[in-house]
Amino acid sequence: MEKDPLKIGIIGLGTVGLGVIDFLTKNIETITLRAGREIRISGICAKRKNKKRKIDLSKLKWISDPLALSNDDETDVIVELIGGEDGTAKSIIEKALLNNKHVVTANKALIAHHGHYLALLAEEQQVSLSFEAAVAGGIPIVKILRESLSGNEVSRVYGVINGTCNYILTQMENDQQDYSKIFKQAQDLGFVEKDPSLDVGGIDSAHKISILASLAFGSRINFDNVLIKGIENISLLDIKNANAMGYRIKLLGLANKSKAGISQEVEPCLVPRESLFGKLDGGTNMVMVEGNFVEQTHYIGPGAGAGPTASSIISDLIDIARGNISTTFGQKASQLKISHHVTEEFISSFYLRFLLTDKPGTLAQLAGILGKYTISINRMRQLHHQDENAPVLIVTHPTKKTLLKSAIDEISKLEICKSEPVYIKIEDL
Ligand code: HSE
Repeated sequence: MEKDPLKIGIIGLGTVGLGVIDFLTKNIETITLRAGREIRISGICAKRKNKKRKIDLSKLKWISDPLALSNDDETDVIVELIGGEDGTAKSIIEKALLNNKHVVTANKALIAHHGHYLALLAEEQQVSLSFEAAVAGGIPIVKILRESLSGNEVSRVYGVINGTCNYILTQMENDQQDYSKIFKQAQDLGFVEKDPSLDVGGIDSAHKISILASLAFGSRINFDNVLIKGIENISLLDIKNANAMGYRIKLLGLANKSKAGISQEVEPCLVPRESLFGKLDGGTNMVMVEGNFVEQTHYIGPGAGAGPTASSIISDLIDIARGNISTTFGQKASQLKISHHVTEEFISSFYLRFLLTDKPGTLAQLAGILGKYTISINRMRQLHHQDENAPVLIVTHPTKKTLLKSAIDEISKLEICKSEPVYIKIEDL
C-alpha cells in the first residue's frame, strides 16, 4: 500500500525557505523515490505575505500565525527557518515538539543555546529534532558525526565554519585591502548576517563548534564555554607578514577532548599555506575530524547559500519520511555527559608583532619578559622603521596561551611598547 505523504509546514521564506520549496519542486521525483513517499508542503508562513518573491507561492496554503502551524493536525514536520536563539523560533519548536511533530531547523544559535533541553523534549515525545543545515551549510557533518563515525572516540573536531569570515580574509589578501573596505564589500554582496558580530565576531562559528563538540564527544552542548575571538582586528599587515612566512590567516573553530576535559575555541590562526586549510578560499567551509580508529578525515563544501542549505534540510526530511528517527546528538540526550571544560591548556606556537622604541636594551627587555614566562623564541625579525619605532616580529616555540597572554600583558605596559601587541596562534595543521 502507498504510504501517506509526509506533510511539512515551512516557517520563514527567506533565501533558505524559498530554496527548500524550489528544491522540493524541481527534485520531486528523486525525493519521492528516496524517501519512499511524497513530501508535501501543508502550509507556509512568513512575516509578510505580499512581499515580492522569486518563486510563485500562490498554490501553497498561507498560514499567518506561525504557532498555528505547530498546532496544525495536517502537519507532520515543522521546518523552522526564521532564526534567532529565543523568541518566536523557540516557541514554534517547543510547541511543535509538544504536539508530537518532528522539527527540522537551520537555527544554529537556538541549537547552541537550547539544544540539550529541546533534545530531551524531542526524545520524550519520540520525534526528531534535526539540524543538518545548522552547521557548515551543504556539508553533511552532523550526519557524519552522529552516524558515519559514531563508533569512534573523537579527540578533535575543527574547521573553517564561517564562510563570510573566510571570504573577507581571502579578499583582504587577494585585493591587498584593509579589513574595513572588504567588510563593506561583503556586506554589499549580502554575505554578512544582519548582526555582523555573529559572523566577524566569531559567534556564528562558536555556535557551530559547540554543536559539533557535543556530537563528536557525546557531551552536553556548552556554548558558554567557547572562547571567542573574531576577525575584526586582523590587519592587512599581519596577513602580509603571515604570507611572507608561508602562512595564511583563517578563522578556526577548534574543539579538543583530552583527559583533562574539553576545550572549545574560535580564533583567527596562522595555518601553513600548503595545508588544506591554507588552500581554502572564499565562502567554502572545511571540517576535520580525528577519530581513534578512522584517524583524520576532512570534509569540504559550500557553507551557506540557498541550494547547499536546502540540500541539508531535504536530507533531514527524507530521513523522517523513511522513519529514521535518530537521537538528536547521536545518543540519548539524558546520557550526554556534562564535561569538564578546560581552557587554554593546549600548547602552540604564536606569531607576535610589536612596535618598539629603537633604543639600546629594548629587545633585551622584551626577551627578558618572554623568558620569565618560559616562552622561547623560534624566529625573530625587525622590519623597516615606522618613524622612531621598529616593528618586531617573533614566532615562539610552542607554549601555553595563558603564559603567552601574561607575557603580552606585561610587555604592553612597558615604555618601549608603542602600540597594542598582536598575537595570533599558529596551527600547524
Ligand atoms: N553566516 C554564515 C556563514 C551563514 O557565513 O557561514 C551560514 O551559517
